[in-house]
Amino acid sequence: MIRPCTQADFEAIWQIINDAAQAYQGVIPADRWHEPYMSKVQLQREIDDGVRFWGFDSDDGLLGVMGVQDKGEVNLIRHAYVKTAHRRKGIGAQLLGFLESRCDKPILVGTWADARWAVSFYQKHGYRLLGTQEKNALLRKFWSIPPRQVETSVVLANAKWRGVGRP
Ligand SMILES: CC(C)(COP(=O)(O)OP(=O)(O)OC[C@H]1O[C@@H](n2cnc3c(N)ncnc32)[C@H](O)[C@@H]1OP(=O)(O)O)[C@@H](O)C(=O)NCCC(=O)NCCS
Repeated sequence: MIRPCTQADFEAIWQIINDAAQAYQGVIPADRWHEPYMSKVQLQREIDDGVRFWGFDSDDGLLGVMGVQDKGEVNLIRHAYVKTAHRRKGIGAQLLGFLESRCDKPILVGTWADARWAVSFYQKHGYRLLGTQEKNALLRKFWSIPPRQVETSVVLANAKWRGVGRP
């Protein structure tokens, strides 16, 4: 079952993010890795900044989370994480499909360039990788991330995205 997360889920969201983010260790640039990957302060900052988390719930509790952030002309998918032990069973696909069904606007998603599995996950769902100039501009416009993260990240867009300023 997919449901909106509440403040009562904060600890579970934080645990899922830091469990799933282990996939990045040794893959993303070493200077971008830290443990825990996301602190509670950072997570709360993201929620305060408008990231709304949805969770895939089961008898065993939340197994995956995905956030959506409304940025006016676009929606961003933020912080998509499925517990390590529950990957590749379609949970990510269900969460993504659910959020897409609620979003009329174009959807953009940013991830580490080195996270090839994540790029392939989104490509499988019809997202296309944007060129370097466009992704740099979008990351600066819609995300609040340090320059080094802009450099080492990619942006994928769904079919509704026509590019900056295009109808
Ligand atoms: C990316 C992620 C959210 C996808 O969730 P999921 O429930 O595993 O995804 P699904 O089962 O719906 O889809 C599986 C597809 O995702 C991709 N994928 C997921 N994990 C993968 C892995 N370890 N290796 C290669 N491909 C992988 C593949 O395309 C896979 O399809 P396949 O099994 O037919 O090869 C999840 O793998 C995850 O949390 N990864 C670690 C954190 C991360 O990269 N988050 C993305 C941040 S934007």
